[in-house]
Amino acid sequence: MSVPTDRPRPLPAELVLPTPSTVDVWWLDVDAHHAAPDGLSRLLDPEETQRASAFRRDRDRYRQAHIGLRLLIGAYLQLPPAEVTFMRLPCPLCGAAHGRPSVAANRSLHFSLSHSRDLIAYALSASPVGIDVEAPQGGDMPDVVAQFHPAEITAIGSLPPSRRAAATLQCWVRKEAYLKAIGTGIARGLGTTYAGLGERYEPTGRPPGTPQGWSIVDLEAPHGYAGAFAVSTGASLSAITAHTRTLTLPQTNSPAAGGAPGPGVVLVAGDEDATDPGKRLLVATRMNPASKAASFGGMKLE
Ligand SMILES: CC(C)(COP(=O)(O)OP(=O)(O)OC[C@H]1O[C@@H](n2cnc3c(N)ncnc32)[C@H](O)[C@@H]1OP(=O)(O)O)[C@@H](O)C(=O)NCCC(=O)NCCS
Repeated sequence: MSVPTDRPRPLPAELVLPTPSTVDVWWLDVDAHHAAPDGLSRLLDPEETQRASAFRRDRDRYRQAHIGLRLLIGAYLQLPPAEVTFMRLPCPLCGAAHGRPSVAANRSLHFSLSHSRDLIAYALSASPVGIDVEAPQGGDMPDVVAQFHPAEITAIGSLPPSRRAAATLQCWVRKEAYLKAIGTGIARGLGTTYAGLGERYEPTGRPPGTPQGWSIVDLEAPHGYAGAFAVSTGASLSAITAHTRTLTLPQTNSPAAGGAPGPGVVLVAGDEDATDPGKRLLVATRMNPASKAASFGGMKLE
């Protein structure tokens, strides 16, 4: 199953919490060389602010990614974005608190995020979920392929040379999505898990090493990026519904923000091709910069 990004259309008036067999995927284009507006950056907690400051290169991308995450989770949980608190689940390998990130107040909403170059991907579900996105790479990545599962190495080797680079990248994002979903990351290596190349490159099969009870779904990511999510539903692949949509973080109070008055910030959700502003859904989030308190102002169709 491969999931394309939705065509422009009005979104429902509420961000409905996804069900266990539903995954909501959101794309956010970031400008990695420009700072997020102050009004938005104030949504971040001290840990996020400190982590962002520690980055030399990806500071602004990190900030924008976490602002988007807060706005999204706030909208799903009807919480002020600044009041969303995060925690790390225990690592399945060593038990330490560096497993998959989670929302502290609501353990039934699972999320995952991924950044690559100028794109952020989010996946949200009521089931454990992981997402990965990667910008197109220059070459064939033979060093990476050599670390894959034997069945993946064989499958890539049997493809025409012109398809190998893209198949390798697809295998990579499928694998990393799964390894993020279970919370180990790539700490145990890439060779024991069979994530496969996806249906674009090979027939569906389940060699030894295929995760049981998990589905890995390819995404049609924007800008030619490779993307996939993994979700633990126990359900068959065909029972999973994925919705993909695009976020925009406008400049505070800019016309793109719908001319929101006062110190407000607005999250615009809609397909990136949407040309009719009347069909954009706005999630209005009013923020008091003095107190850093933000209140979720509900959503309206402009
Ligand atoms: C987790 C990992 C796969 C992410 O890789 P990456 O190239 O940074 O890729 P992405 O941009 O796709 O993902 C980053 C996001 O993954 C999430 N993440 C971090 N650790 C994670 C984990 N253990 N499980 C799931 N998701 C994780 C975070 O949200 C992070 O975003 P943030 O840095 O903005 O908070 C990679 O960092 C990794 O494998 N680390 C090693 C983990 C490890 O050694 N664990 C110790 C075992 S004892």
